Amino acid sequence: MCGIVGAIAERNVSAILIEGLKRLEYRGYDSAGVAICNLAGELRRSRRIGKVAALEQALGEEPLPGHLGIAHTRWATHGVPSEANAHPHFSGESLAVVHNGIIENHDELRQRLERLGYVFTSQTDTETIVHLLHHTLKRLPDLADALKAVVGELHGAYGLAVISRAQPDRILAARSGSPLVVGLGLGENFIASDPLALRQVTDRFIYLEEGDIADIRRDSLQIWNAAGTTVQRETVQFHESAEAAEKGEYRHYMLKEIFEQPRVVQRTLEGRLGATQVLVAAFGPQAVELFARVRQVQIVACGTSYHAGMVARYWLEELTGIPCQVEVASEFRYRTVAVHPDSLFVTISQSGETADTLAALRDARSSGYLASLAICNVGTSSLVRESDLVLLTNAGPEIGVASTKAFTTQLVALLLLTLALGRARGTLDPAREAELVAALRALPGDLQAVLGMDKAVEQISALFAEKHHTLFLGRGAQYPVAMEGALKLKEISYIHAEAYPAGELKHGPLALVDSDMPVVTVAPNNALLEKLKSNLQEVRARGGQLVVFADREAGLENGEGVHVVQVPHIHPLLAPILYTVPLQLLSYHVAVLKGTDVDQPRNLAKSVTVE
Ligand code: F6R
Repeated sequence: MCGIVGAIAERNVSAILIEGLKRLEYRGYDSAGVAICNLAGELRRSRRIGKVAALEQALGEEPLPGHLGIAHTRWATHGVPSEANAHPHFSGESLAVVHNGIIENHDELRQRLERLGYVFTSQTDTETIVHLLHHTLKRLPDLADALKAVVGELHGAYGLAVISRAQPDRILAARSGSPLVVGLGLGENFIASDPLALRQVTDRFIYLEEGDIADIRRDSLQIWNAAGTTVQRETVQFHESAEAAEKGEYRHYMLKEIFEQPRVVQRTLEGRLGATQVLVAAFGPQAVELFARVRQVQIVACGTSYHAGMVARYWLEELTGIPCQVEVASEFRYRTVAVHPDSLFVTISQSGETADTLAALRDARSSGYLASLAICNVGTSSLVRESDLVLLTNAGPEIGVASTKAFTTQLVALLLLTLALGRARGTLDPAREAELVAALRALPGDLQAVLGMDKAVEQISALFAEKHHTLFLGRGAQYPVAMEGALKLKEISYIHAEAYPAGELKHGPLALVDSDMPVVTVAPNNALLEKLKSNLQEVRARGGQLVVFADREAGLENGEGVHVVQVPHIHPLLAPILYTVPLQLLSYHVAVLKGTDVDQPRNLAKSVTVE
């Protein structure tokens, strides 16, 4: 993970770099640093453990003005979070590098460089890059030539930026496996891991492609591809407002993003629904023809996005009869997979840069799948650019590390996919499709109504603040909803939470249940309700405290040890989307009570671009 920003300008770039880092904190935030070249030709740096605010304060006390700089916010992979391990890394006084990714052959490089007399001051893999570059510059004095030679020796993934005191009119950048984008200004240019970092200075961007090296100067840019040929890459003009990334009146981004769900779900639906049908062409021009051939679906994703895929399996098999498998990307990519030739390969990702999901897609492209489809929130991401078909979730920037609106919009996109496949294959009854299209149109209103539960959920959250363990139960498509609820709670409140299919309780986990272990469950009024009620009795009989989010017609009421929070009625097939919201609110309020860092929980990062 980690975030990179760089700038070359006539003006002082220090504030631009700090603002960029703040916007990249979602990628990691255990230490931050900046290296700046000033007009006197000195290369100086400042690094701090912790968030960018600590670095900003340090620069307030001891400013580092200059026209050329690179900066980094870190999510530790090699070496603990410490000032010595924080980027930028230097070789001598002349050369600085920032890096996102992992250099797999760093041990071998380190030994070689130590034999050459280089002294390492950090435990990072990154420091090998800067010393190797320093060594190569002795043979190839032009920074671009030297970097081209160095990347040929690196195994692994990198997005990196380099500056040199000896060549202060340029930033060199290289991308392989980690995203990088050049920001184009007037008489000034920039580099970053994500355009979000640079939206305050430009709205024009060039995405570097795999293997690209860029030579960024104040008023020119040159890019070489992996073969070393000079290439022109398309300039993308951004239009969406920069305010989308502001917190506004909300105390946390997470709360803002929970409350945005009615509006963003509306956006996910926009342009994708006809009067009674899903518009299959919304998935891309080839979708109509391709979807008619699909006999099987393989979904691959990580974390919350994986949970969305698990819900989709219930929908796909029930509504279309198409067999569906779902797997976490980090497992899928390392096993031998038997591929059905008419199988659609679907990836789900908020960021579109998750290393394991991206690697699984890249393997799948040569494994005989019919086609690949990305369900993704970032239109310019690697996942989108490398897939045959795309459905964007259009949730807008998600800043809170714990995914909320990205998940519900993924679910909506997956239900659209289910309906589109069912129609293309002729296995979905048109009346059923029309009924679900109507239910989808009503969904933004249903989500607005469910947000009205906020106060009731806040009250219930007090039950959890002192607890150390919780169980989440669900049946059918609510089982992945329970998994998502448990993930949210553990992520931001640090309370151990596990999810089980409610019917599995008596096969082991019931042994854990006592009055100290709240059991949370979601109970829409569906065919499994009576079975779920029996499972809840099993918990009550062992003294467990139950918190039940239940349909008002579910016939569940408050009683001793049973706390029922009523959820507005919803079409049973859309219940996973609606019942997710009270679980998001629950984890949010518990985290606030516990005083944790809600938007940036410990040890995590928003975009997981390392495996
Ligand atoms: C949890 C969370 C993560 C992500 C996972 C995949 O709240 O956000 O579990 O879902 O890291 O990320 P994307 O969806 O960007 O591929």
